[in-house]
Amino acid sequence: MSEVAIGDKTYWVGVNDRTTDLFEGLWPIEGIGVSYNSYIIKDTKNVLIDLAKAIKTDDFFDQVTNIIDLDKLDYIIINHMEPDHTGVIKTLRMVAKNAEILCTPKAVNMLREFYGISDGIRAVKDGETLSTGNHQLQFYHVPFVHWPETMVTFDATTNVLFSCDAFGGYGAFQGTIFDDECTQLDFYTKESLRYYSNIVAKFSNSVLNAINKLSGLTIKTIAPSHGLLWRKDPGKIVQLYKKWAEYSTSGGEKGVTLLYGSMYGNTETMMNAVAQGISDGGIHPEIYDVARTHVSYMLPSLWKNKGVVIGAPTYEVSLFPYMQAALEKAKLKTVKNKKAIYFGSYGWSKGALKKVNEITEGLKWEILEGLEFPGQVTPELYKQGYEMGKRFARSIE
Ligand SMILES: Cc1cc2nc3c(=O)[nH]c(=O)nc-3n(C[C@H](O)[C@H](O)[C@H](O)COP(=O)(O)O)c2cc1C
Ligand SMILES: [Fe+2]
Ligand SMILES: [Fe+2]
Repeated sequence: MSEVAIGDKTYWVGVNDRTTDLFEGLWPIEGIGVSYNSYIIKDTKNVLIDLAKAIKTDDFFDQVTNIIDLDKLDYIIINHMEPDHTGVIKTLRMVAKNAEILCTPKAVNMLREFYGISDGIRAVKDGETLSTGNHQLQFYHVPFVHWPETMVTFDATTNVLFSCDAFGGYGAFQGTIFDDECTQLDFYTKESLRYYSNIVAKFSNSVLNAINKLSGLTIKTIAPSHGLLWRKDPGKIVQLYKKWAEYSTSGGEKGVTLLYGSMYGNTETMMNAVAQGISDGGIHPEIYDVARTHVSYMLPSLWKNKGVVIGAPTYEVSLFPYMQAALEKAKLKTVKNKKAIYFGSYGWSKGALKKVNEITEGLKWEILEGLEFPGQVTPELYKQGYEMGKRFARSIE
């Protein structure tokens, strides 16, 4: 996509990445891609805000040089050091010789450590203003949204907030960068929640602090570093992020995520009983086979729903390995304050439920019931599972 004007002398010069299969080397974005949004403000002093991943170097430079001669670049603002936004910086440094890098004090060290860059950098203070001529740029440090060195840049002249990872999402652009021109808002909103639960969720407290800190600003456009720009309704993505961040303490909304795995079908049979009970109890469960679903897709559901159902057999005196992996990822992402139940078949020793309790320790999960049963699901057990599901659904508010 070629550059797009987003405000007075302000341009989006980002790139779509449809080549990277795994974001952060972890999270599948195959088929949908992601964008690295960069911006240029042309003024008495010319500014480039946020960069791109190194594999997109050629595309990035094509975009930037369509708008500005690199000799004329005065400032490079690095809101966030993660290489998806700085990968091209070594090359940029070699060609944009007159540009000064502006970043937080923490990012100064990281620029040296990651790229060997140690001169031509100026650390900006929290709340500091930079006049570029007609534009007044304000820098706000927002530690841990998403790394400790992160800041956002607010253009007080155009009221555009360059929010970097905050308010971003997966999904390369499909022709337009703006919310009001996009006919796929549901897709981008869904992918924003997946991005939030995969990347940002652990730092929900920091997200709330940042939203609070920026609440006094009159923001007309949210210009994040991944995904749609919100100019028609900037409040929408801010409210969504706020709601998602608050799930960290509330445990989420009325809903049930049912994770299951099964080797020979016994636990799967019970899963059907429990799912039917949950449904008859008034909640439609979101069901995931843990052996066949990437955890990236389970995390948004786990993050959003107050209720979590875990169905998995005992495996070598422990938990079915794919379930263990899924729950450990949930723990890493601090999926907290859930109501949960467990069920699963065993052969001789049990062990799965004990492991579930061990993994979820410290996450403030209330495990309401457990049903560890030997071998097959008898009609009596089937009924018990159904009733357990129904009770569980009714306990979720
Ligand atoms: C590789 C393997 C390891 C197992 N380890 C244990 C174990 O340590 N303790 C136990 O009680 N059952 C163990 N079992 C038995 C299963 O828990 C049992 O077959 C159960 O019914 C499987 O449930 P499923 O049909 O849902 O896969 C093991 C089964 C397999 C295939
Ligand atoms: Fe990041
Ligand atoms: Fe990022």
